Amino acid sequence: MLELRDLVKHYQMGGDEVIRAVDGVSMTVAPGEFVALYGPSGSGKTTLLELVAGLRDPDSGSVLVNGRDVFEMSRKEGHEYRLHQLGIVGQPHNLIPGARAIQNASLKLLLANVRNAPSAIEPLLAQLGLGKRLQHRTEQLSMGERQRVLIALALSTNPGLVLADEPTGSLDTQRTREVLGLLRDLCRERQMTLLLATHDPQGAAFADQVHELRDGRLTEYRPDHLPIPVGLPPQGD
Ligand SMILES: Nc1ncnc2c1ncn2[C@@H]1O[C@H](COP(=O)(O)OP(=O)(O)OP(=O)(O)O)[C@@H](O)[C@H]1O
Ligand SMILES: [Mg+2]
Repeated sequence: MLELRDLVKHYQMGGDEVIRAVDGVSMTVAPGEFVALYGPSGSGKTTLLELVAGLRDPDSGSVLVNGRDVFEMSRKEGHEYRLHQLGIVGQPHNLIPGARAIQNASLKLLLANVRNAPSAIEPLLAQLGLGKRLQHRTEQLSMGERQRVLIALALSTNPGLVLADEPTGSLDTQRTREVLGLLRDLCRERQMTLLLATHDPQGAAFADQVHELRDGRLTEYRPDHLPIPVGLPPQGD
């Protein structure tokens, strides 16, 4: 479904400084698979997702979606790709202030010229537990509810590939679990491939497969990179 081939994206800073944001990443993601990109701040997660979305050009390498190279697409094809084949789960600040949940969630369907976009999005909002919040304005929704509106927006055009960059950054542990559980179940049900960027091992635990990023490179996933709580007895006997 998705194949990354030796992707490289470096940022040239002043002088000799080069930031190796993405530094030779290859991976294959099967259709319907849920993959987490796990890594600390600055490890290259967002850059990698932006490359997959065709929002940035790489220095070298390719991104193939169903065999098509994202970087070979014309402007128009890129726009179509992002509207129909991709679902990008945004951040709460991407919601339009003052707009109702149902308006925010139906924006992509409107762009795709779907008739009666607001009524078309209702069942998905209801499935996300927002059936009684359709007419709420952005400011009247909790953070967890806003995140669910963003999921409805991302999934509205039934994309094959969903990209979510720290979609639960502003939520507590309980809400994080709820939102990630919903996202996973909906993608599974609709056989959508899901790529989640997270620095949270609890979030990564929802995925079928975890790839760990360090300094722009994939490394073996080791959740034990977590700090060891002070005062634990030594392991073993
Ligand atoms: N436009 C840019 N110009 C220069 N450097 C950049 C640019 N975008 C990102 N970087 C650098 O590239 C590296 C990777 O950034 P990126 O945003 O991909 O990390 P991240 O894993 O998403 O981090 P976070 O968890 O904080 O969101 C960082 O060191 C960052 O400072
Ligand atoms: Mg990021």
